Amino acid sequence: MPASSFGEPLLEIKGLRVDFPEVGDGPAIDGMDLTVRRGEIVALVGESGSGKSLTALTMMGLLPPGAQVTDGTALLDGEDVLSMSPKRLNKVRGSKVAMLFQQPKVMLDPTARVGGQVAEALRRHRGVGRREAKARVVQMLRDVGIPEPSRRASAFSYQLSGGMAQRVMIAAALSADPELVIADEPTTALDVTVQAQILDLLRRKRDELGLSILLITHDLGIVSTMADRVAVMYAGRIVEDGTTADIFSSPQHPYTEALIKASLLEADRGKLFSIPGSIAHARAMERGCRFLPRCPKAAELGISDMCSGAEPTLHTCGEHEHHSRCHAAPEHAEAS
Ligand SMILES: Nc1ncnc2c1ncn2[C@@H]1O[C@H](COP(=O)(O)OP(=O)(O)OP(=O)(O)O)[C@@H](O)[C@H]1O
Ligand code: SF4
Ligand SMILES: [Mg+2]
Repeated sequence: MPASSFGEPLLEIKGLRVDFPEVGDGPAIDGMDLTVRRGEIVALVGESGSGKSLTALTMMGLLPPGAQVTDGTALLDGEDVLSMSPKRLNKVRGSKVAMLFQQPKVMLDPTARVGGQVAEALRRHRGVGRREAKARVVQMLRDVGIPEPSRRASAFSYQLSGGMAQRVMIAAALSADPELVIADEPTTALDVTVQAQILDLLRRKRDELGLSILLITHDLGIVSTMADRVAVMYAGRIVEDGTTADIFSSPQHPYTEALIKASLLEADRGKLFSIPGSIAHARAMERGCRFLPRCPKAAELGISDMCSGAEPTLHTCGEHEHHSRCHAAPEHAEAS
């Protein structure tokens, strides 16, 4: 579906830069641009260490110790998350944006009953009274597919299976009606059947509530079935974005091509396949394309000098807002 078929932008990240000054490896996120529209599912993909989780945590105002935002804006419904006061951020977290993590049991408090944890956001952000919250929690647990929800509401998280705990976290995340859910590898720890159920649940919530979802995943199979658009991250920046159909049928960045090839080989052989080389030093490069040390195309096309001389910009390379940060990707005029 063309990108423009969705609503107005809900999250607009522009020129985001996040540093760990004491580590000195160069910015972990460096000039990141990303838009999620209302009602849209955008997948953020890329190898380990590319900056996906750090992007998510930055949007939640939950920077890890030592991290600093040094540039950029991140408008959530027109308001810059990066310059919000801690008080405002606390309000926005939960009520406008909520996050799902890979390990729900790490996020759920083992000493509190799960029903109380789902009720907390309702009471805090929506001012719902104790008795009404209790009734709504049971309904919400039922809605995310938890059997015997009244009984489960008084369970502790350690008594739940991984899939059930993930459902509880989704219920907690959705309890205060956020507009954006950021899901960081929400199903990686689950077996395939439960994974499919959780993804179905998220998609159903998008369809019913018009939620926007930023879905972080390594799994391109999940991306192809879930996402409306895909943003590919490499060494702290977006190197390609476009509709899911365009990204899979005509990738315009060699890194995206390599990721797709690797995932097909993985599926074929049933084992992990990685792209030769690593992103370890790419962030410290002073100029040129950060993918050059691993890029087969630069030599193939005889453009290595151009690739080492100047960093490519993220330019429009096709219809439906398809962008690529590669010198070899054709320039395409933006539709007016
Ligand atoms: N607490 C930290 N201290 C120092 N550097 C960090 C810290 N957290 C992240 N980084 C830096 O930021 C980079 C991006 O990390 P991030 O966790 O966002 O990667 P990711 O794309 O989510 O990877 P994965 O797929 O493994 O989850 C890392 O390569 C690392 O250099
Ligand atoms: S700009 Fe050059 S090195 Fe970078 S991805 Fe494109 S072809 Fe490869
Ligand atoms: Mg991560």
